[in-house]
Amino acid sequence: MRGQLILKVLLGSAFMGLLVLLIAQQQDFSTPSMDLYPSSQKAPTEDPLGLSSRKFEWQARTPHPLDLRYPYPYPFLINHPDKCEGPRGAPFLLMLVMTKPQDVGIRQVIRQTWGNETLVPGVVIHRLFVVGLPQPLFAQELQTLLEEEDKEYRDLLQVGFLDTYHNLTLKVLTALEWMAQYCPTAHYVLKVDTDVFLNPSYLVQQVLQPNRPLQSNLITGYIYRNPVPFRKQGQKWYMPPELYSHDKYPDYCAGPGYVMSGSLALRILTVAQRVKAIYLEDVFVGLCLKELGVKLTPASPNTFLIDKKKYDHCAFHRLVLVHHFQPQELLQIWPDFLTANTSC
Ligand SMILES: *[C@@H]1O[C@H](CO)[C@@H](O)[C@H](O)[C@H]1NC(C)=O
Ligand SMILES: *[C@@H]1O[C@H](CO)[C@@H](O)[C@H](O)[C@H]1NC(C)=O
Repeated sequence: MRGQLILKVLLGSAFMGLLVLLIAQQQDFSTPSMDLYPSSQKAPTEDPLGLSSRKFEWQARTPHPLDLRYPYPYPFLINHPDKCEGPRGAPFLLMLVMTKPQDVGIRQVIRQTWGNETLVPGVVIHRLFVVGLPQPLFAQELQTLLEEEDKEYRDLLQVGFLDTYHNLTLKVLTALEWMAQYCPTAHYVLKVDTDVFLNPSYLVQQVLQPNRPLQSNLITGYIYRNPVPFRKQGQKWYMPPELYSHDKYPDYCAGPGYVMSGSLALRILTVAQRVKAIYLEDVFVGLCLKELGVKLTPASPNTFLIDKKKYDHCAFHRLVLVHHFQPQELLQIWPDFLTANTSC
């Protein structure tokens, strides 16, 4: 049963991953133009009837392709309402791991490494993988695979919108909605991506410190200071002025991983209902914090790294997170990371 699932998972992730990637890439390039000129409404070449002004009106009413529909009641399609109940009680740390539907193998690696809920003794950690809807072409197959995976591990939260990079803000916000509804007493919430190394013991013992009173205004991670929007089209984080017109962003915590108190997470969700959502999730959280008047808490130097760092046993025991780790590499270093090393 288990062997069969693993086989399916491996075959499924290799095959689907490739195809879905190909399709996603094609869609990324074709979507904007399709949205501007659907086949029924071609751009006029001549303009005897003043059509271009009409077209202009039409465009003004049509949302920008990067515009996000929020607030909106996106449903939870795979859900675990009782995740935070049960004998272990409200979690000290709720890990919300943002993954794509086809990331079956990556989730498996995370469960076996930093996502392990019982890694830090004496502290209740709950982990949820947040996924959206798979791309249409393989939706049926991937959906079946997701449901089987969830039957085995009971740790998926599927939300009802298309899973794309540009919808990541929606994913984080609906994950916080889940927390508000089913896990509002979680002491701390970690938002984390999959391409990282994470040291949960250091995070819990050194940053969050279970024996100290709750730090209710805490949000920390790698902080971008005085950031500005990217304005060149084609850049990965390009921000069209129509969607965000100011020439500065507020300071914010970098998206690969940041941690905040549960009560702050709930307040961020509250203001997010009226702050205009933008697709850069980490910047958007920064905008919400500005609205709340909450300052970021600087982490100890070099504990959240957004540049790749080569694995080193002692160094990695004294930090929280390193960006740009692939699953194979995580599996490789993890046994060594877990061994006690008295010479550090
Ligand atoms: C999680 O960690 C515990 C304690 O170190 C260990 O016994 C368990 O096997 C780990 N679980 C997984 C899925 O690796
Ligand atoms: C976000 O999800 C919605 C709902 O599924 C979808 O219509 C839209 O195309 C997605 N937006 C982006 C920018 O990917």
